[in-house]
Amino acid sequence: MGKIVKLGIIGLGARAETLLATLNELRQVDIEVTAICDVQQSRIDRILGIMASRNAPKPDTYTDYRALIASDNVDAVLVPTSWNSHLKIAEDAMNHGKYAGIEVGGAASVDELWHLVHAAESTGVSCMMLENCCYGRNELLALNFVRKGMFGELIHCSCGYEHDLAEMARDDGNRAERAVHNFRRCGDLYPTHGIGPIAKILRINRGNRFVSLTSTASKGRGFMLEAERSGRGKVVYNQGDIVTTVIKCANGETITMTHGVSLPRPYSRDCRVQGTKGIWLEDAKGVYIEGLSPKYEKIDVAGNPYMAHEWTPIQDLYEEYDHPIWKNFRENVVGGHGGMDALTLQAFCEAVRNRSTPPIDVYDCAAWMCLTCLSEQSIACGSMPMPIPDFTNGKWIYEDVVTTGKWSLDEVYE
Ligand SMILES: NC(=O)c1ccc[n+]([C@@H]2O[C@H](COP(=O)([O-])OP(=O)(O)OC[C@H]3O[C@@H](n4cnc5c(N)ncnc54)[C@H](O)[C@@H]3O)[C@@H](O)[C@H]2O)c1
Repeated sequence: MGKIVKLGIIGLGARAETLLATLNELRQVDIEVTAICDVQQSRIDRILGIMASRNAPKPDTYTDYRALIASDNVDAVLVPTSWNSHLKIAEDAMNHGKYAGIEVGGAASVDELWHLVHAAESTGVSCMMLENCCYGRNELLALNFVRKGMFGELIHCSCGYEHDLAEMARDDGNRAERAVHNFRRCGDLYPTHGIGPIAKILRINRGNRFVSLTSTASKGRGFMLEAERSGRGKVVYNQGDIVTTVIKCANGETITMTHGVSLPRPYSRDCRVQGTKGIWLEDAKGVYIEGLSPKYEKIDVAGNPYMAHEWTPIQDLYEEYDHPIWKNFRENVVGGHGGMDALTLQAFCEAVRNRSTPPIDVYDCAAWMCLTCLSEQSIACGSMPMPIPDFTNGKWIYEDVVTTGKWSLDEVYE
């Protein structure tokens, strides 16, 4: 057994409950939740009840996160609060020598990301974004194909967050902060589920970087219609139904990113990874790889030959090409979001235990989260290109600044 990692959880909403349930399913005796905090006492009481029902040791409780991060009984904090508060809390935690695991969601300003970067650099303590989709089975499968060279040289990727959350506009008397963001703001508010895995695949901050973006918003109708249906009358939302962002990378690749949370449709992260020899298209549930996927000559109605290409179903490739993380995990999947949460939490705790750089580091957090406020600015300026800051201050040119070991998202280790 390794050193026990003592975790504090700040923000005890629905996400905290999923993280706690995942930790419970993991049954790792070397990870313990020793402190919890929320500004609402009712949330603290609810979590105490849940932990007691699982016979977990009773944690210290706080209503002020500053007291929790000052406690010696905590090595690291998980911060599932909200998009407007988690970066400041993470910064303060690092300044107290505590590793911070921040939740997903974009930044309100580039400035708050520089504060985060400076806190990590000045303290030597790290923060990791708990971007669980980086440990998704298909995302890691794609990373494995790319690192094996099976897609050739990468040219274009796409990603997104397309999820019908129009219910946020209902008059349910329980307006989540996320709903207010979507009411007031117009931009890609939730980029990291999609862009996280794609950034890793493209080696962003490790020999590559995001250089600039443009964003365009469609008109918005979905939230307005849902508000009307629920009896709220005519409520005009600033958010466009579909926000499309195009990112240009230093090594020449393009990425299109789509944010759409107010129209009816099945869930998708809209992933596409395309190179000179192959492509993964999430919504086709398949890959096409030269030399592996079916390709044959057909004759068209005019009698002319042409080449037809067929998708290889992704599930046919798991057995042989699953990423090693999933080869070890697939027989015993536990935790939230199809197992991704369990893998992410283990990766974070391993970095805390070893005081090492986590697989998603502060530069990744900053590069991924700034896309939100920059997309808002681009839309506000008529889709004008926005330069994307280099939060590494030039270190991105070094390809070998990678995290190693089992949880690495830079290279694939058997
Ligand atoms: N990775 C994922 O798959 C995933 C899934 C769901 C939510 N999330 C993220 O998790 C975060 C939380 O989501 P949620 O649905 O649980 O939100 P929520 O609003 O239900 O819960 C947030 C909690 O934080 C508390 N809080 C806010 N500010 C605080 C502060 N300064 N100090 C202490 N407590 C504070 C609130 O009182 C509330 O109880 C969001 O960033 C969301 O984007 C991630």
